[in-house]
Amino acid sequence: MERTLILLKPDCMERRLAGTVLARFEQKGFQIVGMKLMQVTPELAAKHYAEHVDKPFYPGLLAYITSDPIVAVCLEGREVVATVRKMVGATKGWLAEPGTIRGDFSLSGQKNLIHASDSLKSAKREIAIFFKPKELIQWKTSDAQYRLSPSEMEE
Ligand code: PPS
Repeated sequence: MERTLILLKPDCMERRLAGTVLARFEQKGFQIVGMKLMQVTPELAAKHYAEHVDKPFYPGLLAYITSDPIVAVCLEGREVVATVRKMVGATKGWLAEPGTIRGDFSLSGQKNLIHASDSLKSAKREIAIFFKPKELIQWKTSDAQYRLSPSEMEE
């Protein structure tokens, strides 16, 4: 089953929007298989944002992501990587479509509430940065069949 990583960033926590944002993914049908409140260290930030450390915006991003706790969540479900990205919306809040999380709650470029893995490959890498295998719990709800991909349903 496909998995992705989301981070409820410091502004999401500061604005007490963690429950509101997380509810959207639960209501969609995605399953929480890992979740933790944590303080991002500069080392962890550099690992997670490895491809951005040399970019001009990185010092600002580093200061922001380490400023307050975050909640790291691993979500599981059908086409979860691409679907969560659609639900999150464009990077800059003022450009994000209404109906998306950033479109509804952010007007900022930096304080954009949430991170979501942008590909299956990134999801695998990022989940491994934030969670040990034993911190991810495989469990099923009674509606689990709706979250299976067609090929998995045939198995
Ligand atoms: S890029 O260069 O197009 O790959 O960058 P992008 O995908 O737009 O953004 C990568 C992550 O950096 C964050 N970002 C910023 N943070 C602070 N300040 C500025 N100016 C800024 N620009 C981009 C952006 O939110 C992305 O973080 P995540 O956590 O992946 O959403």
